[in-house]
Amino acid sequence: MPELIPILNKKEIEKKVHAVAQQISTDYAGCDLLFIGVLKGAFIFLSDLIRQVTIPVKVEFVKVSSYGGNTSSTGHIKLAYKPESDLKNKDVLIVEDIIDTGLTICYLLDYFSSFGPKSVQVCTLIDKRERRDKKIKIRYTCHVVEEGFLVGYGLDYAENYRYLPDIYCLKI
Ligand code: IMP
Ligand code: MG
Repeated sequence: MPELIPILNKKEIEKKVHAVAQQISTDYAGCDLLFIGVLKGAFIFLSDLIRQVTIPVKVEFVKVSSYGGNTSSTGHIKLAYKPESDLKNKDVLIVEDIIDTGLTICYLLDYFSSFGPKSVQVCTLIDKRERRDKKIKIRYTCHVVEEGFLVGYGLDYAENYRYLPDIYCLKI
């Protein structure tokens, strides 16, 4: 059986989601803000975040596949689902579960920038720096975790563990 080592509990997650939501509400007051959640991992984070934000926002999703059943990126990024609405002149905030190597977010930043939005920024639940090989500007980060493969609160390993309310490091 794989071992689950607790990393962040529900309360710690909630506290940071609330703080980031407040900051976003201040920074984007009066803007035409569009959250784009990266499926599937960010679905719980995004749904908690939008309910803590105090300004009107719209929501879209994008689906990227690069991991399969592995714990490291294959580096081949595919878009499996694209946002349906027009991004032109919108303030786009990409909502990610984890930024690891940075390949996925770099790809998404380039992709969304090509539609002429007013701005594109990144909001991540976890900034995992261990394997970062791209320099990226992350505007909002809830937690920095140095290493390990994380599961729970939307994060999976081969589609398992997403339903857990806390975040754990998986030891296989
Ligand atoms: P990157 O392209 O290497 O930055 O990988 C980012 C994507 O890989 C994230 O959107 C996650 O879905 C997935 N990922 C990276 N690290 C983990 C992890 O520790 N647990 C679960 N998914 C992860
Ligand atoms: Mg993901």
